[in-house]
Amino acid sequence: MKFSHRPVMIEEVASGLKVKNPSVYIDLTSGGGGHAERIIADNPGIRAVLMDRDGDAVEFLKDKFKDNSNVTVVRSGFSDLDKVLFLLKIKSADIIFADLGVSSFQFDTPSRGFSVSQDGPFDMRMDRDASMTALDLVKQSSEGELRNILSEYAQERESGRIARVLKKCAEDGMTTTLQFANEIRKAKRFGKAGLDPSTQVFMALRMAVNDEIGQLEKMLAKAFVALAPEGVMGVITFHSTEDRAVKRFFRDRRDSLPFYSESDKGRPYIYGRVDVDEMVQPSDGEISENPRSRSAKLRVLRKH
Ligand SMILES: C[S@@+](CC[C@H](N)C(=O)[O-])C[C@H]1O[C@@H](n2cnc3c(N)ncnc32)[C@H](O)[C@@H]1O
Repeated sequence: MKFSHRPVMIEEVASGLKVKNPSVYIDLTSGGGGHAERIIADNPGIRAVLMDRDGDAVEFLKDKFKDNSNVTVVRSGFSDLDKVLFLLKIKSADIIFADLGVSSFQFDTPSRGFSVSQDGPFDMRMDRDASMTALDLVKQSSEGELRNILSEYAQERESGRIARVLKKCAEDGMTTTLQFANEIRKAKRFGKAGLDPSTQVFMALRMAVNDEIGQLEKMLAKAFVALAPEGVMGVITFHSTEDRAVKRFFRDRRDSLPFYSESDKGRPYIYGRVDVDEMVQPSDGEISENPRSRSAKLRVLRKH
């Protein structure tokens, strides 16, 4: 299988995630394994757990790292991090990394249903064993629920009209990405120059189909509990709602606010000293070479 994904901010990630003598690294969103390859190369002999919820990514990763016996590839949503670590008998990790969102492979494979420009089923599931596709979401949600999804995840000004259009498309028996994207394009009156009018709508539906914010909030808590003393945790976001969640979570840990994680039996969890680095964004050079990196933000937290 050809799996193309260009890892963003690779140098910034490599330098941000440096720790002394790490033994365990967990990549929560391994995708094409670009970041993982670099972190493993920088830390020879490190035990690496590479997770992804996409079966295609997992097959690719198993093949890519087949000669490294220190690497374990696991198909799982990252909100189940605690269960994965329990099964692998790993108590804590020194480096934990997540690069959120969708890979270029997912975007550029029409049959996965993420693309606004190539036709495929209106699907958008990262985990193809999950039960709800984008089409199911549109059919099963009320117009009001769709409007809320569009307002919350895409700050869509025309959320009411677009929600109506989505319902009408489903009622008329439309089932493909281009059918939906074309109707959205026709309906939108306002938009950003240079951006396909259906892009933001697709992004909002994708976030809902994959429960991206719900997964993120559970993962942050579990990852922080699993992080070893002196360990480092980095998260790359591509969306303001995600970035806010990460920023707030890191700030609260730095300020020693307690929180309650399922993975710590619901006890209030407080860790002593925590440092949070300045947020980092891609350089202009990287953005011009890889426009998909433009909204990326890297946040890094360290336990003492
Ligand atoms: C931006 S790509 C990561 C690319 C990767 N860093 C690389 O170097 O190739 C995001 C990946 O995260 C996966 N993903 C997104 N949400 C996830 C979740 N909740 N649990 C596990 N994997 C997830 C997607 O399937 C996708 O493969």
